[in-house]
Amino acid sequence: MLDHEQVVMHTGRRSRLPVIVAVHSTALGPAAGGLRLWHYADWRDGLTDALRLSAAMTSKFAVAGLSSGGGKAVVALPEGLELRPDRRRDVLRDAAEVIASLGGAYATGPDVGTGPADMAVIGESTPHVFCRPKDLGGSGDSSPHTAQGTLAALRAVSRRLYGTSSLAGRRLAVIGLGRVGAGLARLLVADGATLTVTDIDPGKRTVSDELGAVWQSPEEIIAADVDIVVPAALGSVLTRQTSAELRCRAVVGPANNQLATPDVADLLHQRDIIWVPDFVAGAGGVIHAISTELHHVGADDARARVDAIEETVDHLLDTAQHHGRTPAQAAGELARQRLRAAADATSSPTTSLDHPL
Ligand SMILES: NC(=O)c1ccc[n+]([C@@H]2O[C@H](COP(=O)([O-])OP(=O)(O)OC[C@H]3O[C@@H](n4cnc5c(N)ncnc54)[C@H](O)[C@@H]3O)[C@@H](O)[C@H]2O)c1
Repeated sequence: MLDHEQVVMHTGRRSRLPVIVAVHSTALGPAAGGLRLWHYADWRDGLTDALRLSAAMTSKFAVAGLSSGGGKAVVALPEGLELRPDRRRDVLRDAAEVIASLGGAYATGPDVGTGPADMAVIGESTPHVFCRPKDLGGSGDSSPHTAQGTLAALRAVSRRLYGTSSLAGRRLAVIGLGRVGAGLARLLVADGATLTVTDIDPGKRTVSDELGAVWQSPEEIIAADVDIVVPAALGSVLTRQTSAELRCRAVVGPANNQLATPDVADLLHQRDIIWVPDFVAGAGGVIHAISTELHHVGADDARARVDAIEETVDHLLDTAQHHGRTPAQAAGELARQRLRAAADATSSPTTSLDHPL
């Protein structure tokens, strides 16, 4: 059953590529979520990604206590297609056109494959865009704030496991040294952690060397002898098989869609491995962007809101322990409570009928 409010899909007028926007929920406010520009074997895989990622955004905002709904945009690139700059601009203008047609029900931001410069192009056609470069009035790159938020989640887990929020002396395995992963790895090293790292891009070995980290292959790292595994690449790293191979005590990272199937959260719980849901550990970037661009809070307040992920994770771990549940179940319940409360507060009984799907 489709539980999204609205899903629109256009063939881009200029690029002829599929532009997909999924609005999962506007119960808490207009939807927001990044634009993913990524290669897919089939555009339908891009649609699946948009549906899953937009639903996760609803939970991400609800658990963070933000008045925004969940949405996501995907432009599905065929395998092997490299975008020249002029063609990339066409793709972005096509995406902007679809976003503008939604009249504010959805605002976009950066995600895998896009960054602040792309948001500047989208901003030429629609105001419904976050994280444009700072010199254009946006809040810029969200990835340092995502990294900061994941560090806050890691501190809460460290306190639970080891009685201290400091990561000094802890061994962590970081999967993916992209914008968030590399930034987070630097924060962890600064905190005194010892790292094992990987990336499918062998060029990232320079980052590994700079950090004094041990490099392992993406296949090996899941079974690394570490305290905490930090997924910071693309989705579905936690399968039934990989969850059985883990030797760590916790998995906490910013990567979206870490679970191949929801039951993997239960398998991890049975193995006494703490898994902090990705939509909690990876919320720092959107918390910062929404706080500064929509709520106009200052830098210190925005930072405090990102750091509050530590308390959120504390609360989820307490609730999970108290009720004998997984942190994922506790987070899901918290999100549902906030969505129910918002629905109850909505005066119009016809809200759900306003949407085409
Ligand atoms: N950028 C943000 O602010 C933000 C916010 C929330 C969540 N996230 C999520 O965090 C993750 C990383 O985002 P990013 O902005 O750093 O993306 P990015 O594209 O900059 O980095 C991703 C990195 O992962 C590597 N990678 C891809 N597949 C891999 C694999 N199978 N094994 C090892 N490495 C692999 C890539 O080579 C790249 O270096 C994504 O899942 C993204 O959705 C990002």
